[in-house]
Amino acid sequence: MTTYLSGIQPSGFLHLGNYFGAIRQHVQATELPGEHFYFIADYHALTTVSDPEPLRAYVREVAVTYLALGLDPERACFFRQSDVPEVQEIAWMLGCQTGMGLLERAHSYKDKIANGIKPSVGLFYYPVLMAADILAYDATIVPVGKDQQQHVEMTKDMAGYFNNTYGPVFTMPEPKLAAEAHFQKVPGTDGRKMSKSYGNAIWIFEEGKPLKKAVGSIPTDSRAPEEPKNPDEMVVFELLALFLEADELDDWKHKVRTGGEGAPGYGHLKMRLIAAIDEYFAPARARRKELLGDPAELERILAHGAAVARERARCVRDRAFHACGLR
Ligand code: TRP
Repeated sequence: MTTYLSGIQPSGFLHLGNYFGAIRQHVQATELPGEHFYFIADYHALTTVSDPEPLRAYVREVAVTYLALGLDPERACFFRQSDVPEVQEIAWMLGCQTGMGLLERAHSYKDKIANGIKPSVGLFYYPVLMAADILAYDATIVPVGKDQQQHVEMTKDMAGYFNNTYGPVFTMPEPKLAAEAHFQKVPGTDGRKMSKSYGNAIWIFEEGKPLKKAVGSIPTDSRAPEEPKNPDEMVVFELLALFLEADELDDWKHKVRTGGEGAPGYGHLKMRLIAAIDEYFAPARARRKELLGDPAELERILAHGAAVARERARCVRDRAFHACGLR
């Protein structure tokens, strides 16, 4: 049995990088035969969000975003991480078999420290909790973005330490990256990787004036439309590549490369990008608004997911309890 599982942190509103790097892959995976678990990693968000009201809003937004973008709660068990306290118990058992050295090698931890963040114990322990998330449901495939790959590799290490000591309790997972390279690294409006912290993100559900403004901020230069240019050096093309069919994209690129009369200028290309974003996300925008208007339905979906997830995690927790002598 293949069991797909992934989590997404509610640390802000989700942008195109989150969509093409993770959400899209998650929603598509639910079409495959097997079991599917997707959850909102609210415990993990406590490592970065320390205001209760924004945290509640982000959790709601992530839930609504997944459902609006097509995650079917009948096909996938969709829940809130903190509704399954068993993961904390599993995390503790794993942590007691895991050396400090493994956690000290985590890139995301090291990056944060290098950026001057004073680490909490929670930030250091983050990969152990993530390992418990994965192992609590006997997940075999974990679709993640590149930035989370190492955490899944660390999960395998932790499962290995535990199983070596106590016998085969945990199932070995494998990380799975998006197949297409251009979906793995979505550029922001300034050309660097799209990230909330760089202020270069386009929110998935942005529309109207704010969308125009975000797309408008993509860098341009003063060269005239007629002047031949290399489209592969233009950020606007990297973003267009996410939305357009190959034929249309090649056609635009060809015109830009050749230049001359009728070649599109930056303004023209940006308008095409806005229209493509509008078209791509229009149905999801409408669904999002509906869902936001029905909080009881949202709670019902998450409560159902929590019940299913919890039953599963309880079995795995019990297995680990017995193996290590807590029962
Ligand atoms: N750390 C992940 C992120 O920031 C979220 C996450 C938490 C997760 N637990 C997980 C992802 C388990 C995959 C599996 O995106």
